[in-house]
Amino acid sequence: MKHIVLGITGASGALYARRLTQQLVDSGARVHVIVSAFGRRLLADELGVSKVSPETLAGRETEQVVIYHPRDLGARIASGSFLTDGMVVCPCSSNTLGMIAAGIGDSLIGRAAAVTLKEARRLVIVHREMPLSPIDLQNMLRLSRAGAIICPANPGFYLFPQTIDDIVDFVVGKVLDLLGVAHSLNTRWNPEAPPAVVDVAEAADGATE
Ligand SMILES: Cc1cc2nc3c(=O)[nH]c(=O)nc-3n(C[C@H](O)[C@H](O)[C@H](O)COP(=O)(O)O)c2cc1C
Repeated sequence: MKHIVLGITGASGALYARRLTQQLVDSGARVHVIVSAFGRRLLADELGVSKVSPETLAGRETEQVVIYHPRDLGARIASGSFLTDGMVVCPCSSNTLGMIAAGIGDSLIGRAAAVTLKEARRLVIVHREMPLSPIDLQNMLRLSRAGAIICPANPGFYLFPQTIDDIVDFVVGKVLDLLGVAHSLNTRWNPEAPPAVVDVAEAADGATE
């Protein structure tokens, strides 16, 4: 069984966090969830979730979702001796991005991320903010050089999403790929697929007119 740590922070994109939890549970993984105080607010504001629980995150009662208090530095995921298959912060605020980039470990999200980096395990940062300040960019570069993967919540539209769920799945599928978790979400570019509505040659002609 894979053990994945999931940090949920106060950046817009609660739908990503819920879909990611569901997909990880469906894959058979155990999901160790930490929600920051502002992450709780986002879950309430964007999803109407008043109580963070396995049921509200995964859509059903399950022992595969373990929820930790964001200040519980005595939790087992605060130690490198607890073996995990990686951590993802989704969505990740600029605040938490900066905290992790600075190596601050006085919260469980910061400490678990620092542990993930020091143990050279996979750390995926699903940052959400726009535009980006030079400080955000420097924090991203610093984390990337430390081994983290910066995976902004930045959906592509080349698969012609029809619903918000399609857009969410695109980002979540990418995150699952980075965590090495198998999934069947529609995220792959397939040049063999039937041509899209637009005729590429005509579109190119039109662009030069
Ligand atoms: C409704 C709402 C939406 C927010 N969206 C974002 C966002 O998309 N990105 C971001 O970096 N901060 C966002 N913030 C600000 C963060 O929540 C704030 O900086 C907070 O301190 C983050 O704390 P955390 O990193 O501990 O979760 C938002 C705040 C609120 C109330």
